[in-house]
Amino acid sequence: MTITFVGHGYVGLVTAAVFADFGNTVYVIGHTKEKIENLKRGVIPMYEPGLEELVKKNVKSKRLIFTLDYNPSISQSDIVFIAVGTPTTKTGDADLSMVLDVAKKIGQNLEGYTVVATKSTVPAGTNKKIKRILEESRPQDAEVDYASIPEFLREGSAISDTTNPDRIVIGTESKKAQELLVKLHEPINAPLVLTNFETAELIKYAANAFLALKISYANAIAKLSELIGADALKVLEGIGMDKRIGNMFLSPGPGYGGSCFPKDVKALISIAKDNDYPFSLLEEVENINNQSRRDIVRKARKMLGDIRDKKIGILGLAFKANTDDMRDAPAIDIINLLQNDGAKISAYDPKSMDVAATVLKNVDYKKNAYEAAEGADLIIVLTEWNEFKELDFSSIKNSMRTPKIIDGRNLYDPSEMSDLGFTYQGIGR
Ligand code: UGA
Repeated sequence: MTITFVGHGYVGLVTAAVFADFGNTVYVIGHTKEKIENLKRGVIPMYEPGLEELVKKNVKSKRLIFTLDYNPSISQSDIVFIAVGTPTTKTGDADLSMVLDVAKKIGQNLEGYTVVATKSTVPAGTNKKIKRILEESRPQDAEVDYASIPEFLREGSAISDTTNPDRIVIGTESKKAQELLVKLHEPINAPLVLTNFETAELIKYAANAFLALKISYANAIAKLSELIGADALKVLEGIGMDKRIGNMFLSPGPGYGGSCFPKDVKALISIAKDNDYPFSLLEEVENINNQSRRDIVRKARKMLGDIRDKKIGILGLAFKANTDDMRDAPAIDIINLLQNDGAKISAYDPKSMDVAATVLKNVDYKKNAYEAAEGADLIIVLTEWNEFKELDFSSIKNSMRTPKIIDGRNLYDPSEMSDLGFTYQGIGR
């Protein structure tokens, strides 16, 4: 098939590259000349394992074509995906201006029969608006059907999540569109959920909010475990073995971050409010998440007493491992709070320091974990990068002013760390 993606963020670029790899001809439309020129050369705007190779391979075989133009890509396409961003507005709603703008441009360039599908996460009801815009802007002789296909990939494992998803959700009222979309997804072996727009849109928000809820629950259990002297990791392992609960997304830490959970939880609260349903459960999910970030700072105060002029080494800045993404990373709030208390921050992250430097000022960025720890009164681990799992802690201890560590991702064994001479504090134990 010939397909087009409008947008080359995580969702657009990864899915486009995977569909090209399946043998389709895939256009990717962007609106910044420099970015499109880079993509043509295989230079991708983010760090995602395996993506650069996949993009280069498919550009070379001419199945993946980057362009600034809506024509001829749209007119030639059987299916067009909208995969542009939906950032949060000041009021907590999703900003739909890009999605709606793109829908109009797609509509104006349609030819023959085309299915237009939204991959961007949009609140219930938006798809009706997009459908209307497409109908109003299309040439008279063009025929268009509309669908919602939410995306469930995670940063850091985006390619395997796309080729091996737990399910594919296709929301459309048209049988013809449904058949075409099912055919496109045939190389992927996953159960299908075939439904209408509204349901597909809500599945996406409900899934992200539920995962965020699991993480806040794990963080609340961690807090309680600390207060009563239980080991939260054992408690969570113990509950996760119950198949009805499941063991995934139950790791306590500095709180969830990234471009999805914080935004989507907010948006679902807002959708519920618009429909006169106060979704207070999700408000508490957010509260616990904010507390989890603040709790790291509370622990630092407890360990150091007065934080003013203390040197704190931060290991890991990205919101999770295997990405350079700093969007809503817990490290931002935590470092800001520590700096407000007068701490001097040094930091190291394997991939995100360039991005971090644009949002976190007065931080001494270091070349590796050892340099970040040198002379520090305390180190705080905020991202679970593999390279932090096997550090030489004897040499780190010798280089620190006082050997203290807050293990925000529970990477280390508390008794091993205390045998090595560290004052250790994990999350929930
Ligand atoms: C999330 C969802 O997992 C994807 O299914 C979804 O497609 C995506 O949002 C999206 O809507 O685009 P992502 O934000 O890339 O993916 O990363 P996750 O692995 O879900 O992690 C999100 C945050 O939760 C990270 O800050 C991570 O450290 C935190 N987390 C995750 C925990 O604190 N504990 C856990 O047990 C799991």
